[in-house]
Amino acid sequence: MTTASRPFPRPGVLDIEAYVPGKSAAPAGVKLHKLSSNETPLGPSPKAVEAFQSLASKLEFYPDGSSSKLRTAIAGRYGLDPARILCGTGSDELLQLITKAYLGDGDEGVFTEHGFLVYRIAILAAGGKPVVVREKNYTADVDAILGAVTPRTKIVFLANPNNPTGTYLPFDEVKRLHAGLPSNVLLVLDAAYAEYVRRNDYASGLELVAESENVVMTRTFSKIYGLANLRIGWLYASAHIVDALDRIRGPFNVNGAAIEAGAAAVADEAHVAAAIEHNEKWLAWTTAELEKLGLTVTPSVGNFILIHFPKAAGKTAKEADAFLTQRGLILRAVASYGLPDALRMTIGSEEANRLVIAALADFLSAKA
Ligand SMILES: Cc1ncc(COP(=O)(O)O)c(C=O)c1O
Repeated sequence: MTTASRPFPRPGVLDIEAYVPGKSAAPAGVKLHKLSSNETPLGPSPKAVEAFQSLASKLEFYPDGSSSKLRTAIAGRYGLDPARILCGTGSDELLQLITKAYLGDGDEGVFTEHGFLVYRIAILAAGGKPVVVREKNYTADVDAILGAVTPRTKIVFLANPNNPTGTYLPFDEVKRLHAGLPSNVLLVLDAAYAEYVRRNDYASGLELVAESENVVMTRTFSKIYGLANLRIGWLYASAHIVDALDRIRGPFNVNGAAIEAGAAAVADEAHVAAAIEHNEKWLAWTTAELEKLGLTVTPSVGNFILIHFPKAAGKTAKEADAFLTQRGLILRAVASYGLPDALRMTIGSEEANRLVIAALADFLSAKA
């Protein structure tokens, strides 16, 4: 037997393209408006900040390994069973844990064409095979997803609403997807932007989790709650799924400051309402202004929009990105999501939104 000259990662690991976060720097001397990671312009609840600070004098102690206070707060807010909630270091960690627990070598994980990048990473890291399904009009297509399921499929990931497209599937469609899946396939509903959605036919999936054995819904505190820096996610699932994930997670996977701040954030419903109101107003305004400039925008129900710069129009997304960056307006290039001719813009403060529109007007009329 020949011995390798050094350790090599398991198959699949080196096929992963490491996740590249949204840019966060502006040129020297220019005010930065970071609109690249779907963070909230309102920041966190002041009550969450206060709760975070209360931890400063207790840093030598391990946190509560079961995040009880946070789970109780979430359960109270949404009327859920706290025993079926699992918290994690961002929903990213939970997506990785789910994949690690339910998908093994050669198993298939299904997600859609412009789906969140972490699904591919998690599947490859677990030794599985990513199966990418075409979307229709930048929207997940239930029939196409069901058509991609094989006896090797273990997980189907659906971001609803999806990042970076901002599109969503009505709950009836999600239920149709679930009904068409074999009972041994896990349906992961990633509802990172659920709180922003203002549509009567939308549901995050709690109801489906409650009545099925093969559905997990994931949520995050990184978006509407403004706590991205603390890395807090949670999931709701059947007891047998929570039990499996509990066995493989880190024993203290959520830090104490995150537990305290998250619990306080959930309780501050007025802050969330203000964030929803801000987003509704500026999502509509920004979309309309971009359309007035002649740009195509994919209709979004989240706190971000996908702006298209068709090559035929002679002005590329790459040039627009460079132009905006010069003015401190940092959007997200989405070529890695299969969208080389688009940029994703987070709905920002009034000032930032107005600056983007003014800058794009200048860009399109070729003025510097
Ligand atoms: C669809 C989707 N899921 C999950 C996440 C991860 O969020 P977290 O910060 O909780 O890891 C994001 C963040 O961008 C996202 O857009």
